[in-house]
Amino acid sequence: MANTFDNILEIKELNVNLEKKDRTIGALKGINLAIKKGERVALVGESGSGKTMLSLSILKLLEPPLKIESGEIVFKGRDLLKLKEKDIEKIRGKEISMIFQEPLTALNPVLTIGFQVAEPFLIHQNISKKEAFENAERLLKMVSIRDVKRVMKSYPHQLSGGMRQRAMIAMALALNPDLLLADEPTTALDVTLQSQFLDLLKNLQKKFSLSLLIITHDFGVVAEIAERVVVLYGGMVFEEAGVENLFDNPLQPYTKSLLSSIPKRGTRGRLKTIRGQVPPLEKFGSGCPFKDRCDFALDECSKSLPPLKERESGHKVACFLYGV
Ligand SMILES: Nc1ncnc2c1ncn2[C@@H]1O[C@H](COP(=O)(O)OP(=O)(O)OP(=O)(O)O)[C@@H](O)[C@H]1O
Ligand SMILES: [Mg+2]
Repeated sequence: MANTFDNILEIKELNVNLEKKDRTIGALKGINLAIKKGERVALVGESGSGKTMLSLSILKLLEPPLKIESGEIVFKGRDLLKLKEKDIEKIRGKEISMIFQEPLTALNPVLTIGFQVAEPFLIHQNISKKEAFENAERLLKMVSIRDVKRVMKSYPHQLSGGMRQRAMIAMALALNPDLLLADEPTTALDVTLQSQFLDLLKNLQKKFSLSLLIITHDFGVVAEIAERVVVLYGGMVFEEAGVENLFDNPLQPYTKSLLSSIPKRGTRGRLKTIRGQVPPLEKFGSGCPFKDRCDFALDECSKSLPPLKERESGHKVACFLYGV
């Protein structure tokens, strides 16, 4: 087991609630997740499993009716949940940055790419506009954009999806963050561009010893980039393992179904659906959130949440099939 101090981020027993007028519904349930310095971790799960909610919690960007109920989010030794908004603002975009799923919505349509990539420098650093624009050019070159001069002057809609996505990484890396959260960063790209983008992301991650949390539905993406995988379902961590281990020896029936729905290890492609659907939050009821879709459900699966336990070195699973 890694020493706690190796972890750049450590989420402990995080509970997030959805607060409705008449009742409170558990949205994230006792999440434990750690990322080591320089490590690439993938967070996978079907649509609605809570992936975005978890990444927004890390940046303290959740809005009502969602509320962080309890837990700790320790980043470089400090619990982010205890910090004041003004201190979080210093961390957000600077020490922890995020790439969003659809770059068109995350980029401002009326500002040039050059200005948007230069903006973090203008906001966080006391440097001239000229220097900020020079930095922006340097960053755009770094993300393998060749015609930098043209891209600098372009507005988001004048660029292809792949170019916009590169501009997004440039912005995210502007201030040398320690941790990069990337929420489905490749969904807007076609398969060839996805591969190029992942190569680029991996190279930059290595170059800057970034810690990376990449959120995806796609096991092809996982195979290409992740060292460790965390499987989320119904707002809880179902399984966590090194990438080889997860592909070769999945333990949770949910992970098994996810993996058996792709043709072959490492093959690209979206997950086919598993029997039944991800229910809305209020329909999970008590017990294991997967019980109604699981072929192996036991009596206790309806009674309480299965605890996440380490079954082999570095391989954790939450499932009553493996005892309590
Ligand atoms: N503001 C909100 N109010 C009510 N329910 C919400 C809110 N935000 C998210 N949810 C619900 O919480 C659950 C988890 O949502 P989340 O967006 O985290 O899923 P996800 O894993 O990121 O899915 P996707 O792969 O589609 O992006 C879903 O059931 C979603 O409908
Ligand atoms: Mg999402």
